[in-house]
Amino acid sequence: MRIKILLLILFLTPISISSQQIISNDNKIAEINKMEWFEEAKLGIFIHWGIYSVNGISESWSFFNGYISHSDYMKQLDGFGAKKYNPKEWANIIQESGAKYTVITTKHHDGFALWNSKYGNLNSLKNSKSKKDLLTPFVKEIRSKGLKLGLYFSLPDWSYKDYTNHTNKIKRYSIKEDPKRWQKFLNYRDNQLFELKNRYKPDLWWFDGDWEHNAINWKSKELKKELQKDSPNVIFNSRLNEFGDYETPEIGIPIYRPSSKYWELCMTINDSWGYQQNDNNYKTPLQIIDLFVDTISKGGNLLLNISPKSDGSIPNKQKSILKELGKWNKKHSSAIYSTKKGIPYDHFYGPSTLSKDNKTLFLFVRDIPKDNQIVLKGISNKINRAYVVGNGTVLNKQLLCKVYWNKYPGISYLEIPEETLDPYYTVIAIVLDSPIKLFNKKSGAIEVN
Ligand code: GLC
Repeated sequence: MRIKILLLILFLTPISISSQQIISNDNKIAEINKMEWFEEAKLGIFIHWGIYSVNGISESWSFFNGYISHSDYMKQLDGFGAKKYNPKEWANIIQESGAKYTVITTKHHDGFALWNSKYGNLNSLKNSKSKKDLLTPFVKEIRSKGLKLGLYFSLPDWSYKDYTNHTNKIKRYSIKEDPKRWQKFLNYRDNQLFELKNRYKPDLWWFDGDWEHNAINWKSKELKKELQKDSPNVIFNSRLNEFGDYETPEIGIPIYRPSSKYWELCMTINDSWGYQQNDNNYKTPLQIIDLFVDTISKGGNLLLNISPKSDGSIPNKQKSILKELGKWNKKHSSAIYSTKKGIPYDHFYGPSTLSKDNKTLFLFVRDIPKDNQIVLKGISNKINRAYVVGNGTVLNKQLLCKVYWNKYPGISYLEIPEETLDPYYTVIAIVLDSPIKLFNKKSGAIEVN
């Protein structure tokens, strides 16, 4: 009998282990699949639109930090008219920029909702001069273009009566003292979120403000689970405590290639998230492309912010920056979308990306090369061809330091004709005979003779 039991255990054990492995492999595959569009998208447009655009003051923080009283801040409701709001134009501008997704502030920390919510008492239809649900028509236009939709939602709602914090000085209560009141707030939050989920079926949830409470108090894990019901592929940014699918660095672009697989840099177009008429510190198209190229060469996405005015128009300056970016993206699309992070700077003095099959390397050349040449080192493959992306001109190559008696692959000097230089970045495609092999051996003395 004992032997039989033992045999049975022995027989069953490997099966249970392998089925566990299958489950975790399945999970991994499911995760890779769900992140696929995000990884290929590279560029998203972030939109901060709310009543703060009326006075042109900082979104929510201006009253939280006491630069203006809450009641004066709320007076902006009467100026938020959205008279020139043209969601079709917004969607066109987003698409023309080359972005594949957008993330819009459905509700910032001030609690003002851009859709007609049944919950709470602060939204664009019931409480602002616009008297309109502003989110629904936008979602419709975005969908009609086949762009992916991200909804920004602030976990804190500093205006809501049952939320813990009102300003940095006024705390309404603590969760420990009054867990029931906190639960009331969570019910309100969840009701709003399920309303958004059911109405708009977002591809991405972009949470913000998780720093005000821990995952247990926010019920982050449970919330994620609920939002995934019937939408198993929905993606979460990292601001849901530790339950996000990707990292969300803000403004500070990583200097070193991040180790995390998925990440997205969110970035202002000037120095503000919301519209501020006094902020003219716009980044130039070249500076935006600098950030974009740096980001994609490190395997990330850029989520570039725009800030419409209270009348719903997008400032001309912002439109023209997106247009320039879009033109450059269109010309260089093969080097941008569906690529992955590039090679270390030891091989090329600049950013790069790689095609999915690792057989084409894209080099991003910012400045005017000296003697019209760029330098590529330590690539063990044969270079079949090098050409200017979006232009097609094939480059002359010169190979230096290649000797027959060792495997050191030498240094390639590639000549870019001056007339093919792009005003922003010139992109060079290096077509290899096989998936890229980076030479990482010591280059020693003679090996064969
Ligand atoms: C910050 C700020 C907020 C802004 C956001 C964008 O967390 O609180 O004002 O909306 O970042 O990333």
